[in-house]
Amino acid sequence: MCGIVGYIGTRKAQPVLIEGLKRLEYRGYDSAGVSLMNGKGSPVDTRKAKGKIAMLEAAIAERPIEGSTGIAHTRWATHGPPNECNAHPHVDCTGTISLVHNGIIENYGPLRAMLQKTGHTFVSETDTEVLAHLVEAAFDGNLEDAVVDALALVEGTYGIAVISSNDPDKIVAARKGSPLLIGIGEGENYIASDVAAILAHTRQVVYLDDGEMAIIRRDGYTVCDLDQQIVKKGVSRIDWDLDEIEKGGFDHFMLKEIMEQPTTITNTMRGRLVTEEGFSKLGGLNLTMDELQNLDQIIITACGTSWHSALIGELMIEEHARIRCEVEYASEFRYRNPIVTDKTLCIVISQSGETADTLAAMREAKRRGAKTLGLVNQVGSTIAREDDGGIYLHAGPEIGVASTKAFTSQVVALALLTLKLGRLRDMSVVKGREIAQALEALPAQIQSILDRASEVEKIADAFADATNFLYLGRGYNFPAALEGALKLKEISYIHAEGYPAAEMKHGPIALIDAEMPVVFIAPHDSVFDKVVSNVQEVKARGGRVIAITSREEPSLEGKIDYEFRIPQTIDMLNPVLAAIPLQLLSYYIAAKRGLNVDQPRNLAKSVTVE
Ligand code: AGP
Repeated sequence: MCGIVGYIGTRKAQPVLIEGLKRLEYRGYDSAGVSLMNGKGSPVDTRKAKGKIAMLEAAIAERPIEGSTGIAHTRWATHGPPNECNAHPHVDCTGTISLVHNGIIENYGPLRAMLQKTGHTFVSETDTEVLAHLVEAAFDGNLEDAVVDALALVEGTYGIAVISSNDPDKIVAARKGSPLLIGIGEGENYIASDVAAILAHTRQVVYLDDGEMAIIRRDGYTVCDLDQQIVKKGVSRIDWDLDEIEKGGFDHFMLKEIMEQPTTITNTMRGRLVTEEGFSKLGGLNLTMDELQNLDQIIITACGTSWHSALIGELMIEEHARIRCEVEYASEFRYRNPIVTDKTLCIVISQSGETADTLAAMREAKRRGAKTLGLVNQVGSTIAREDDGGIYLHAGPEIGVASTKAFTSQVVALALLTLKLGRLRDMSVVKGREIAQALEALPAQIQSILDRASEVEKIADAFADATNFLYLGRGYNFPAALEGALKLKEISYIHAEGYPAAEMKHGPIALIDAEMPVVFIAPHDSVFDKVVSNVQEVKARGGRVIAITSREEPSLEGKIDYEFRIPQTIDMLNPVLAAIPLQLLSYYIAAKRGLNVDQPRNLAKSVTVE
């Protein structure tokens, strides 16, 4: 998720743009850049820098740029590691057209090849640079005409802003899938991906919708569709306070990120599911068909929440791809003497891509001859740069220390990989289609859970003063129990343990009393009836039961104190749906305890030390 801001007026554009970028820093950024128009026909002046906005400011201080029209961008890398060259804006061969982009151009590969064949030279590894050259190829004096022609060739999502010194008195913007809005000033106007970037200057905004383009001038703006038919748009007045907007109106980043999951899961799957044929397209594995078919073991290594998604991946891969799979804590793997061959695939899962133990475990696996595959959210992170291949999560920056959207995207990425591996082996097209259809249904199912968040908040009210929790589940839901327990303990500081439901009899049952809430993850799956017996064992000892179920269960009648129902899905995807109410339960309990939900004590977002 990147940040875009543009200005056209009579003031110096550079300070307005830099301040706007700073207001977008909550979106996460790994590099940033600014382009200013500087007179008709002359090359656009561009400065870019890797890292925080301060690095860009230093670059501009070193080589100042002037101009009253410009565009700027903070990058959350999706293609190409974070560095100055890959930072936006991107310019065309003549240097007179500059463009910033938020989104993913799915067909950038063939477009880049086509443009290179016609003489265009590329300098970056990004998908975005293709757009600058497409506009150049179509440009015939009118910028909006060129943008329309360029976008007609594009598949994927975009929010773009473009300037050209050969058509200098305008900024052209267009939107499909990534937010954009116009800010209306006096003798000056703005374009931005988020209100936060321009709220210091205006409260009058026009939100663009998908398929719309805006031509923004100093003295006004026009909105049209991509056939250049005028579209009538209302003007909205913003009455938010700036510090609220950076959390999108939510009290905490964690809640914002929980609520984003229908979108982030969609982005993780974007362009990767071939539902009709029941398989997945994963471009970056860098493994040949032969290597994939001849794998004889998979080791998945990670830490924390990522280790929980690894446990789910193990069950998926063994059940549906029929490849031996084991999961190792990265901190343990790196120091033991594992059996690894050149037919071993070592999958490393890491939201940050910087966790020291996970990085060390991957290097150890490589040293022993394994192929490595990174499931990483942060593009261009160390793990993503050192692995042999990867599957980016595309979940956008995760600011809250407690991982939520990254976890569900990890599980979905593992399901996509399982589909890929399974369909290379014994998985039928029917089974593959069933899994693909269940994956496609997830975003709407997650939204239906989020729409009932208040039900979870009521349960949290009853347990905000608890001192201990037990989370129990079987099969795919045992790792979901572990993840639910971790979410609670790391932000509410309540001791919580996750356990296989059947294991409770072998010790933890001694803990059960009216003071010990027990959360059962009990969707209607292949082991449901077994879980019912465990519920009865808890109730028989006076325990209070919270059950995450998936439909009316007469067998649970009178045995559970609180119930939250999730939609029915296939066994392997239950942890994705069960995670949502458990994330919310932890969030509401921690918020009710008045704790720092986004930065819990003693924790860091990325543990880059042993
Ligand atoms: C999860 O909520 C925690 N923040 C922590 O366990 C985290 O999952 C772990 O440190 C691994 O981080 P990574 O995914 O960035 O490697």
